[in-house]
Amino acid sequence: MMRHQITLIPGDGIGPEVAEATVRAVDATGVAIEWDAVEAGARALAEQGQLIPDDVFASLEVTRVGLKGPTTTPIGGGHQSINVALRKKLGLYVNFRPIRMLPGLKTRFSDLALDLAIFRENTEDLYSGLEHEVVPGVVESLKIITEKASTKIARAAFEYARREGRRKVTAIHKANIMKMSDGLFLKCCREVASGFREIQYNELIVDNACMQLVMRPETFDLLVMPNLYGDIISDLTAGLVGGLGIVPGANLGDHHAIFEAVHGTAPDIAGKGLANPTALMQSAVLMLAHLGERNASRRLQEAIQQVYAAGEFLTGDVGGKASTSEFTDAVIRRL
Ligand code: NAI
Repeated sequence: MMRHQITLIPGDGIGPEVAEATVRAVDATGVAIEWDAVEAGARALAEQGQLIPDDVFASLEVTRVGLKGPTTTPIGGGHQSINVALRKKLGLYVNFRPIRMLPGLKTRFSDLALDLAIFRENTEDLYSGLEHEVVPGVVESLKIITEKASTKIARAAFEYARREGRRKVTAIHKANIMKMSDGLFLKCCREVASGFREIQYNELIVDNACMQLVMRPETFDLLVMPNLYGDIISDLTAGLVGGLGIVPGANLGDHHAIFEAVHGTAPDIAGKGLANPTALMQSAVLMLAHLGERNASRRLQEAIQQVYAAGEFLTGDVGGKASTSEFTDAVIRRL
């Protein structure tokens, strides 16, 4: 049997709890994984003096694949966000977030069987971290949009659409105001779209897109957008299918991939055994597929779906009473 090496970054807050649950579920699929656990985040800063200690990059250099829990980035004080640093350093230009309804879960939109996916550019835009004070009382934050990164994210979305037989890609922008930066993003999307004639392509201004997503989410299929709109719209669409505890994510580059949930460290419930590990488990479903373990990926996805359909062992955020480990045990029993 092939043995995979994965870098595990448990993270802060509820991170270690959802990471432990996910490792147990992945191991229960029977796939042979050697987990290389490394620390990043607030704990790493306190214990090792660095938010991302060097052994994190050293491990990822060997394994090329990471599973990551949420990490705290201290606000202010000149620390770069860990996620931004990892994405930039490893060239993880695609942030992929599939948004799917889980069976049995009651949300305002449960009857719509939503199935959409977000392709968020992950390395530039206002997240370049280029901010400075022009004169006292005036700061400037630079929005960087390049032809190269915009073309890469657009190509990733269209190639996925072709591979998975999806029908439509919608580019989200604000090019009516940011004519040059978002204008360039759209130009790149149009050029890529012209090579994929079988896939419908349309464009929506971000504010209108937010309204349409709330009023008619079922009309969307794949959405491609620059970093900031992607950050906001990911959370909006997560809300449509039951919240942050559910939705998985993948950060993909040409050489590395890091799988992580959309949610943060949830300090309000950390350490209480209440966290929902579904988001990280579903990220692990994407990870197993990425590793070529299609069968294990499908089995883990189905086990999670069965636990939701039965509705017996759900965590508090999705209306249940179960603890993190009771939910995890239920998933493992279905495996
Ligand atoms: P958050 O996602 O941690 O929490 C928002 C709300 O959702 C809270 O009420 C929380 O209890 C709930 N929630 C989130 N995940 C949950 C789960 N798995 N199960 C049950 N309930 C869950 O967002 P917030 O409060 O804005 O950020 C807290 C910290 O997380 C900050 O330090 C932030 O920097 C960090 N963060 C890290 C991210 C990452 O590393 N990927 C992403 C977002 C935030």
